[in-house]
Amino acid sequence: GRAARESFNTRGAFILAAIGSAVGLGNIWRFPYVAYESGGGAFIIPYLVALLTAGIPLLFFDYAIGHRYKGSPPLAFRRMGKGVEAIGWWQVLICFVIGVYYAAIVAWAAMYTYFSFTKAWGDDPEAFFFGNYLELADAPGVVFDFVDGVWIPMVAVWLVLLTILGLGVRRGIAKASLVAMPVLIIMFLILVGIALTLPGSTSGLDALFTPDWAALANPQIWIAAYGQIFFSLSIGFGIMVTYSSYLKRRSNLTGSGLVVGFSNSAFEILAAIGVFAALGFMAQAANTSVDGVVTSGLGLAFVAFPAIISQAPMGSLIGVLFFGSLVFAGFTSLVSILEVVISAVKDKLGWSRGLTTAIVGGACAIISVVLFGTTTGVYVLDVSDAFVNNLGIVGAAFVSVLVVSWGLRRLPALAEHLNAISSFKVGMIWRVLVSVVMPIVLGYLLIADIVSKATTPYEDMPLDFLAVFGWGMSASLIILSIVLAVMPWPSNAALHREASH
Ligand code: PHE
Ligand code: NA
Repeated sequence: GRAARESFNTRGAFILAAIGSAVGLGNIWRFPYVAYESGGGAFIIPYLVALLTAGIPLLFFDYAIGHRYKGSPPLAFRRMGKGVEAIGWWQVLICFVIGVYYAAIVAWAAMYTYFSFTKAWGDDPEAFFFGNYLELADAPGVVFDFVDGVWIPMVAVWLVLLTILGLGVRRGIAKASLVAMPVLIIMFLILVGIALTLPGSTSGLDALFTPDWAALANPQIWIAAYGQIFFSLSIGFGIMVTYSSYLKRRSNLTGSGLVVGFSNSAFEILAAIGVFAALGFMAQAANTSVDGVVTSGLGLAFVAFPAIISQAPMGSLIGVLFFGSLVFAGFTSLVSILEVVISAVKDKLGWSRGLTTAIVGGACAIISVVLFGTTTGVYVLDVSDAFVNNLGIVGAAFVSVLVVSWGLRRLPALAEHLNAISSFKVGMIWRVLVSVVMPIVLGYLLIADIVSKATTPYEDMPLDFLAVFGWGMSASLIILSIVLAVMPWPSNAALHREASH
């Protein structure tokens, strides 16, 4: 039948889901470190410039595409121009890769929420994480030695995830963020409150906020700011296109974009305060400088925080709040990533949500558990993240802005669409930012990343491993996206249904 496209009940439900997607591990474990390394308090300037000139304009761009062409990325791009469906599939495949490894991190964080009580890491959190917990193999590769503490919670994560996705936009996605987001915000505020009372916390904040104004003259700092904004808002690879395709016809798009963009940044800055207060405590306890204990990513979450939890008063509570926040922040992002995949297949094949979730979601779950529930999972995860979450998303965003603004010349139509229904109007400045400034910034980021990956083997990993899981995987995504785009639309129904152009 010609079922209408699913939709969010209210604009508030959409905004909450979009914030849930944006606020993820990057806010908690990436931003604090980037800010500290890139000028401390002075970083606020390049960061705000990047938010206003790249983050918000590209959010509007994604919203306009999803809402005007009412489809998952392949359908939306196909409706924009017959030859460009492949760009949409490229975005979908990027989401697929990120989704299958993101689920592993959410599962580890869930296990560490429990370890916060048992303090299973003893007095060597690093040895515990890589050795006892992950049972990391000695060298990169792919073996199928499953690790119970990883694959079992991963199966649980996938079961919850597929249940939510199977329930659909209103009963699944919107409900999940309605529950998870308030819980996340309350847990995180309490965490920051406790962290600020720890002895030594102010030395952490001093280290974070002391501005290094000279850093502003360093182009690397500006690149770090743009990189963080792209990563953090997850723009340019289909997530916001998908969610905005579920918005009702008359929706204030730019108003929503401003709320989402600023909320994500507010959460990021709050996280930096909490993380550095805790690191200040850790430095004081270890009798070293804050500089000696600063880390990001896996090291911050799974090595530094366990040490803090073991030493701090109310350590178990800090642990539950910290790892619980990672679980909730990561999970709502995971929902949005996988929804892109489900939505795209559903649009193209005309399948029902239940069938698509069972078959496509089930396949993603199996691939995810088989690749990342093993003793070599972390190596594959590390390379996939470096190549897809950096190279891939920047490449896809670069091609999208170029093709939409110059190839198809759709910016005037998209601007008109935004302005017809939104409070905040876009004009000449927005078009110049998207069509001129973005290609330059993204092109620069892309070339810099390719050069650095081509000249220094990522983390000194074996070249054949990088060739397969880094370069090979990146190239296969592009080839596969062309194949998927060439495949005919079986029913053609989705293609012609309720098109608004
Ligand atoms: N952007 C989110 C963050 O800051 C995470 C995310 C990544 C969300 C990929 C969707 C897709 O962590
Ligand atoms: Na984010």
